[in-house]
Amino acid sequence: MPVSSRIPPFLKQVVEQRGERQQKGKKLAEHDSREMLGSRLGFLFLSAGCAIGLGNVWRFPFITGEYGGAAFVLIYILFLILLGLPIMVMEFSVGRAAQRGVGKAFQILEPRGTRWHLFGYGIILGPYILLMFYTTVTGWMMAYCWHMAVGDLSGLTPAQTGEFFGAVLGSPSEQLVWMTLAVLTGLLVCMLGLQKGVERVTKWMMACLLIVMGFLVIRAVTLPNAEAGIAFYLKPDFGKMVDEGLWEAVYAAMGQAFFTLSLGIGCMTIFGSYIDRQRSLTGESVTIMILDTFVALMAGMIIFPACFSFGVDAGSGPGLVFVTLPNVFNSMPMGRFWGFLFFVFMSFAALTTVIAVFENIVAYFMDVLHWSRRKAVLINGVLVFLLSIPCALGFNILSDVQPFGPNSGILDLEDFIVSNNLLPLGSMVFLFFCCSRRGWGWNAFMDEADAGKGLKFPRCLRLYVTYVLPAIVFIVFIQGYIDKFGK
Ligand code: ALA
Repeated sequence: MPVSSRIPPFLKQVVEQRGERQQKGKKLAEHDSREMLGSRLGFLFLSAGCAIGLGNVWRFPFITGEYGGAAFVLIYILFLILLGLPIMVMEFSVGRAAQRGVGKAFQILEPRGTRWHLFGYGIILGPYILLMFYTTVTGWMMAYCWHMAVGDLSGLTPAQTGEFFGAVLGSPSEQLVWMTLAVLTGLLVCMLGLQKGVERVTKWMMACLLIVMGFLVIRAVTLPNAEAGIAFYLKPDFGKMVDEGLWEAVYAAMGQAFFTLSLGIGCMTIFGSYIDRQRSLTGESVTIMILDTFVALMAGMIIFPACFSFGVDAGSGPGLVFVTLPNVFNSMPMGRFWGFLFFVFMSFAALTTVIAVFENIVAYFMDVLHWSRRKAVLINGVLVFLLSIPCALGFNILSDVQPFGPNSGILDLEDFIVSNNLLPLGSMVFLFFCCSRRGWGWNAFMDEADAGKGLKFPRCLRLYVTYVLPAIVFIVFIQGYIDKFGK
């Protein structure tokens, strides 16, 4: 008779439970030695790299062009300060206090008996859906680097440039290849580890991005007739914005503020969890927001003077950088070189976001299921690749899928789900969690946000962030739906 079968059942249960606890303890202990970021610069660049992306260099310029330039920029900056900044501080605080990403942070901080952690499980949908279309558009940027470098776009007429972009989108193989490269970059960098991969590569890419951007801005503002573009960009025309639809502009500005800071989907939570309490989080958030806004404004300073200098329409929508700008480069001396540099800048901006968002997903599985980094990276790499296929094929094989009517596509649907829904709704969760007594609570949030040197979160904003801020998000959110579907 085996020994185990001679142990009385109650004792067996005790032994088993002890074994389970030991296992769990061992896993937690392994987990507690999780890697942290190596430097403050790494944290700032990583968070800014996550924020700075297609939103700044692709979305922001074309939305600004559509809504009349500077008037829109002013509303956008207002939203950044009024909405984006407080929510960013909250996300960082939740992550730093819990020392975990969004999958565990709510569970660690929530009062007993509450179920905030269920939001934590739901919020991770955001990074997946974001990557589902982000990898495709990142692929376009990488594709254009290549086509610029080998001269495929040189000498094309404006009509041919449009056809070229159409051909790139229309080719399933080309779409899949570049999308796969974008996914692989995120996967490989995250596989190398937090400090050796994510932090090091992002720091390097961000530094290159800022240098390349400097060159491009100098080139653009010294083009003939660049002043007209600068005036369009910097002189507000509220009349044009009202003509285009004031609510639509306000809604677009709000969506852009959430999108550009990657708020509400746990990205800032995970980076908050990788730092110590030496610096106050309001100060760090202001620095990151300034970096993000600086890059967005500079992207406009590259694009608008160039458009006006070469007589191309600044309001030409999402095709702006792919269809209009190659014409600009074609008519410039050394255009191929400047064009290549421009798309390198675009690709780096996009890739730093892909890496950061992918890291958020990887960390989720390391936190919640205690997977090793390798396992989390490999499984999610395959998953993100598969999930990105519909968008990549949405411009060719799946072009009949038009969720919002003619001329819309899978990308529009995924972008709408994330930008207009998951980002603002996820942000509301952080807001309520930090301000409500039934959540983490105001005092706990303030203690965490203010710990360390630097700017403190203004206490006088309590009523504003508890009542006014959610109300603004809610009203603009509903109005955006009415505008989109009610016409
Ligand atoms: N924050 C990222 C961007 O602006 C999503 O592209």
